[in-house]
Amino acid sequence: MAKTEWKPGNMLYPLPAVLVGSRDEDGKDNLFTAAWAGTINTNPPMVSISIRKSRLSYDMIIKSGEFVINITTEKLAYATDWCGVKSGRDFDKYKEMKLHKEEASHVNCAMIKESPVNLECVVTETKDLGSHTIFLADVVAVHIDDQYLDENGRFDFNAAKPIVYSHGEYYGLGQYIGSFGWSVKKGQKRPADSDTTRGRNIKADKEKKVPKKNVGNQAVKTPGTNAVSETAKFPKINAGSKSAKALRKNAGSEGVKVSKKNIGNGVKKEQNRKAGKGMKTGQKKRKPKER
Ligand SMILES: Cc1cc2nc3c(=O)[nH]c(=O)nc-3n(C[C@H](O)[C@H](O)[C@H](O)COP(=O)(O)O)c2cc1C
Repeated sequence: MAKTEWKPGNMLYPLPAVLVGSRDEDGKDNLFTAAWAGTINTNPPMVSISIRKSRLSYDMIIKSGEFVINITTEKLAYATDWCGVKSGRDFDKYKEMKLHKEEASHVNCAMIKESPVNLECVVTETKDLGSHTIFLADVVAVHIDDQYLDENGRFDFNAAKPIVYSHGEYYGLGQYIGSFGWSVKKGQKRPADSDTTRGRNIKADKEKKVPKKNVGNQAVKTPGTNAVSETAKFPKINAGSKSAKALRKNAGSEGVKVSKKNIGNGVKKEQNRKAGKGMKTGQKKRKPKER
């Protein structure tokens, strides 16, 4: 099968579409939708969000150095889209979307009650990248909706029906394929071709799932591997400590800009890339609305 080479663009999907909460000096809470968001470190737990300077949320977070990431779900899909096309300059988004507030415990910010997971974040670094400014942040606390915890305290994240954003469209999660490390489990046959789910009884596999014993801070070792499941760890809370305060103080300071070098690429190649050369004639760059 042939492939077409396109000009460089954003094509790393699917992504989470999270609702980021912030608060200004007057105590006004705001929300905005972010897809340019991700996990960037395990220990300490860190996340990033990228924000255009034109957003009200940018002004609020650059000043406060704090924000909350609210995980979105199928039930929150409407609010997720709406908060991503309306500005807090014109609307009280909590009120418009009939969302309830809960007070974060370590940062001065509201959290969405209807969201199953809220991450309290303290900005450690910012860097202007061009269209967006990236905010690196420490996760200083995590709140989990008890209704998704089983009697052993195990968190069934996927039961909360999280949504993803994929090339301009929102989706729920698809069918279960396997758990971390399933490909190397005993008895697991390597597929003859690239159809990795072929021949597997997914339902039975899910039912057979090894119960995790990772309540609290323990990481889980996936059976048959030495791999440690990243999602199984709960962050140690140290907000309010000296380090958290120091982080907050540094928040908003611009990172050092590193000059772009064409490592491994000839200057010519880079010039061609910028000029869009090498693309097939008539090729149109199809992309969703700019984020
Ligand atoms: C699915 C989706 C993802 C988005 N991702 C981002 C993003 O990562 N960064 C950003 O600056 N804006 C993003 N936006 C746009 C903002 O959410 C939008 O401009 C919002 O109205 C800003 O609100 P505010 O002015 O109240 O901060 C996204 C919008 C949608 C619908």
